[in-house]
Amino acid sequence: MSVSEAQIRDALKSVKYPGFTRDIVSFGLIKSVNIDNGDIKVQLALSTNDPNVPATIKNEAESALRAIEGIRSAKVLIDIHAPPGGAGAGIGATRIPGIKHVIAVASGKGGVGKSTVAANLAVALEQTGARVGLCDCDIYGPSISLMFGTRERPMATEENKIVPIEQYGLRLMSMGFLLDDASPAILRGPMVTRYTQQFLQQVEWGELDYLVLDLPPGTGDIQLTIVQTVALSGAIIVTTPQEVALIDARKAATMFDKVNVPVLGLVENMSYFLSPSDGKRYDIFGSGGGEREAKRLRVPLLGQIPIDIATREAGDHGVPIAGEDRQSPVSRKFKKIAENLRKSLP
Ligand SMILES: Nc1ncnc2c1ncn2[C@@H]1O[C@H](COP(=O)(O)OP(=O)(O)OP(=O)(O)O)[C@@H](O)[C@H]1O
Ligand SMILES: [Mg+2]
Repeated sequence: MSVSEAQIRDALKSVKYPGFTRDIVSFGLIKSVNIDNGDIKVQLALSTNDPNVPATIKNEAESALRAIEGIRSAKVLIDIHAPPGGAGAGIGATRIPGIKHVIAVASGKGGVGKSTVAANLAVALEQTGARVGLCDCDIYGPSISLMFGTRERPMATEENKIVPIEQYGLRLMSMGFLLDDASPAILRGPMVTRYTQQFLQQVEWGELDYLVLDLPPGTGDIQLTIVQTVALSGAIIVTTPQEVALIDARKAATMFDKVNVPVLGLVENMSYFLSPSDGKRYDIFGSGGGEREAKRLRVPLLGQIPIDIATREAGDHGVPIAGEDRQSPVSRKFKKIAENLRKSLP
């Protein structure tokens, strides 16, 4: 009985990319399959700096192939590319033409203020004179459209590209612009992956210095799909100071590390509260957590953002605080983060 290519691909689908739930076939790592009677040669290509990744994949893939009936020998060869320029290209991720730097804002844990940080950072970067886009990649709970107070629907070009909305000098795109309130619930698994990829590739950003991606919380398949689709210059991880958030921040850092995306640093959000009545500082979630974690991960602590009523209010009524009141303490923090970012990613 002769072996078919479909059988081989099927067998390889049981091999997961180390550390993730996605398999190497759906990742697009298979370059060629060569069948010579019962002798199989499979060529893979991947970009990584971690020697354990190809070694593990090779072992697992060869055992999976040997388990197919009718196979005499199975050889898996892997082409390893170092990520270009040391910057994280992810696994097979492509650059978006016209965009200098794509920066992901991520967190392991939900509700720590990713969208708030992404929105204010984008505004602050724009205020330094850069051309900036902001993309809300949270398919289940898009919030940038709310934070920028717009429900305007984006237009499509004749080539079926989506044109971002312009607001406060930024180009904005959100899955929330495209989905009806009810529709995310029906998107599951592979559909989410496909939708996310399509979405990222279809937006006509034009020329940008920075595109800030507001990622959904967690370190699962959606986040992985995003870092695999778009070549990132780096990731910023948002955390709050308490241990439960720090543990998840660590997971997020590990995820980016695995796909060779440099972690640009941590932003500690809700770091403390300055009481407006007596000016006293309250460390509601404890103090020093972000600093300790940044040291442990050997990345910079980019900033500490206090819990601030005006920041929450501004976000809720559709103007990020950095745009509403440039002199507010929180706006100044974001200005500093933006200026440092411009220096490290010119
Ligand atoms: N520094 C802050 N001071 C006061 N309120 C804040 C601050 N940061 C965030 N918030 C508020 O906390 C809530 C959650 O923030 P946000 O939506 O940015 O979190 P998120 O991490 O993006 O959440 P999700 O995981 O659901 O995407 C919002 O109401 C926001 O206005
Ligand atoms: Mg969010």
